[in-house]
Amino acid sequence: MLTTTTIAEVRRLVAAWRARGERVVFVPTMGNLHAGHVSLLGAAKQHGERFVASIFVNPMQFGPNEDFNHYPRTPQRDTDMLAAAGCDLMFMPDVAEIYPHGAELAARIEVPGISAVLCGEFRPGHFQGVATVVAKLFNIVAPDVAIFGLKDFQQLAVIQRMTDDLCLPVRIVGAPTVREADGLAMSSRNQYLSADERQMAPAIYRELKRASERIQAGSRDFGRIEADGAQVLDELGFRVDYFAVRDQLTLYAPGHDTRALAILTAARLSRARLIDNITFEL
Ligand code: PAJ
Repeated sequence: MLTTTTIAEVRRLVAAWRARGERVVFVPTMGNLHAGHVSLLGAAKQHGERFVASIFVNPMQFGPNEDFNHYPRTPQRDTDMLAAAGCDLMFMPDVAEIYPHGAELAARIEVPGISAVLCGEFRPGHFQGVATVVAKLFNIVAPDVAIFGLKDFQQLAVIQRMTDDLCLPVRIVGAPTVREADGLAMSSRNQYLSADERQMAPAIYRELKRASERIQAGSRDFGRIEADGAQVLDELGFRVDYFAVRDQLTLYAPGHDTRALAILTAARLSRARLIDNITFEL
């Protein structure tokens, strides 16, 4: 595996591959990799011949009181994992490479509507930071296909919309959520959990499943289902940001003719903010 910290080197290598007719598949990450990230490289294999991963903890997508400074950074381990997963090129830029004029005053990409709901309500500016860095990375790597985890369902929706609206020549592919044996979605932020909290955390996916089963069994009282899910988590000691039944495509409340549903939740256990979702068709 090749590794580089510079935009110029990424462009040079990718251009050479493309000139040979090889398709380039891109997996953006913030590092501290786990089996969920590695699965994205597995999915990438179906879409091309060359695989590029980026590791960049993007300051623009963290709020002023969020965990940017404490976000776990494990570059050596990440390098080994990407090499073992068959990655061709790892791009690990520093902040000045991505934001040469500073992140504060950098041009930004706003995807209205879909960025404002759910996590957008609780993390103002977060999806603007995500959309901006992903657009920059797309312009640097110029991939044919980019892979994102369904675990971050709203992020995937924002990126898909940005790509459509800006006519970016990249195909966006979603890959399934990788879970621990007890159902907890893998996340770098799971490390923030104490032993007791880690025991409790699988309740998130359990309640998502319970809610989806009620709907699939015929219940249409979404308000009640949302309130029940939030209440169970709240009583267990989570601070619930939202537990919401939504239209998969718009992330707004389902209409009468909505068939593709998503139930999404974000809940905090002390320092850790955990998100998860479940999707299904009626
Ligand atoms: P990060 O949290 O490192 O996640 C990188 C990619 O891995 C995302 O597409 C995410 O959805 C996926 N992923 C994380 N946990 C997963 C799991 N358990 N199963 C499957 N996929 C999983 O998401 C980001 O970084 C950043 O916002 C980024 C897109 C890189 C922009 O900075």
